[in-house]
Formats: sequence, C-alpha cells, structure tokens
Amino acid sequence: MEPIRIRNAEPSDYKAIISVVNDWWGGRNMRDMLPKLFFVHFRQTSFIAEASSHVAGFVTGFVSQTFPEEAYIHFIGVNPQFRRENVGRTLCEHFFTVVRPLGCKVVRCVTSPVNRNSVAFWLRMGFATEPADVNVDGLCVAKDYDGIGEDRVLFVKQLGAKS
Ligand SMILES: CC(C)(COP(=O)(O)OP(=O)(O)OC[C@H]1O[C@@H](n2cnc3c(N)ncnc32)[C@H](O)[C@@H]1OP(=O)(O)O)[C@@H](O)C(=O)NCCC(=O)NCCS
Repeated sequence: MEPIRIRNAEPSDYKAIISVVNDWWGGRNMRDMLPKLFFVHFRQTSFIAEASSHVAGFVTGFVSQTFPEEAYIHFIGVNPQFRRENVGRTLCEHFFTVVRPLGCKVVRCVTSPVNRNSVAFWLRMGFATEPADVNVDGLCVAKDYDGIGEDRVLFVKQLGAKS
C-alpha cells in the first residue's frame, strides 16, 4: 500500500472532495450535508489523507462551542480504492490526537441507520451507541433526529489518554 500523509484540510480541497462525495457514499445524496465551511472555519480539526497525488480520504469535525470537552466528527470518507487499509482509522486517530490536547474528553458522531458499513466502522473505532427512541434490528435509532424521516444512530466515544 502507498504511504499515507495526513494534513489539515484547506478551502482548495473542497472542489475535489465535493465532486466525489456522493460516489464515495454509494450514490446517496450527501453533498448538501458537506458545506465548504468545514474547509474554511474548521481546518484545525478537518484533515485530508493523501497517497501520492490521490485523495485517499478526509475527515471533517470540530470542537463543540457549547460543550468544550466534546469534539464532533461530521463526515469521514475514504476513497473506495483505499478502503479496508486503515485510512479511516488513521484519520480518526489523527482527529483524536489533535482534539485531546484541546481539552476534549469525548467524541460524538451520528450516522444513518441504513449505513451499516458506517455503523460497523464506528463500533470498531471504539464508539458506543447512545440510548435512543427505538430499537431497529438491534440498533438504537433516534427517530427524526435530523428532520422528518432523517433517523440517526448516535455514537459516543470517551477519549482515554491514548485511545
Ligand atoms: C466507513 C469508512 C470511512 C471506513 O474507512 P476504511 O478506511 O475502509 O476503514 P479502515 O480500514 O480504517 O477500518 C477501520 C476498522 O473498521 C472496520 N471496518 C471498516 N469498514 C468496515 C465495513 N464496511 N464493515 C465492517 N467493518 C468495517 C475495519 O475492519 C477496521 O476494524 P479493525 O481494525 O478492528 O479490523 C469507508 O468505508 C467509507 O468512506 N464509507 C463511505 C462513507 C461513510 O459511510 N462514512 C461514515 C459516515 S460519516
């Protein structure tokens, strides 16, 4: 596998990312949920994984203004050509390494219950599901969390000294 380099996201990365994001999510319309502001105002906590000249993946997130001890991962995406090669894990762990010294003790994220790959990924990354309204096929689901019909699984991870 090619060596991966992680660097902070830049506004100039947006065009390349937004043009592939629907494809990377298997054709779902995700584009509208990833505004450029993440590549402008959250550069300290948003990262690009590069492999030679390719974008291998990205993660966008932030430290909560309301809960300064919490960080939030908004999107993580890995180029299908680089999947199951630890790119997602490396991006996540980089995010944890950056937010921990900023005072974060907890990381949260949400995903759609239809995205079973994402659910499996977050569980492997040490996240736990949070209690929610209903149980769907063994999964705690918060109904209409992100609007009517937009159910979500809520994840939380306690950041240890190294995890
Ligand atoms: C989810 C995603 C980011 C995973 O990226 P990845 O680079 O392939 O994941 P990694 O290789 O780093 O895997 C990390 C761990 O998750 C597990 N994992 C990754 N994808 C998985 C899948 N589809 N099913 C089950 N487990 C999976 C790996 O086995 C690994 O666990 P291990 O280290 O204990 O063996 C990638 O599949 C993706 O971009 N999917 C589309 C976008 C998306 O759904 N993003 C998440 C919601 S924002």
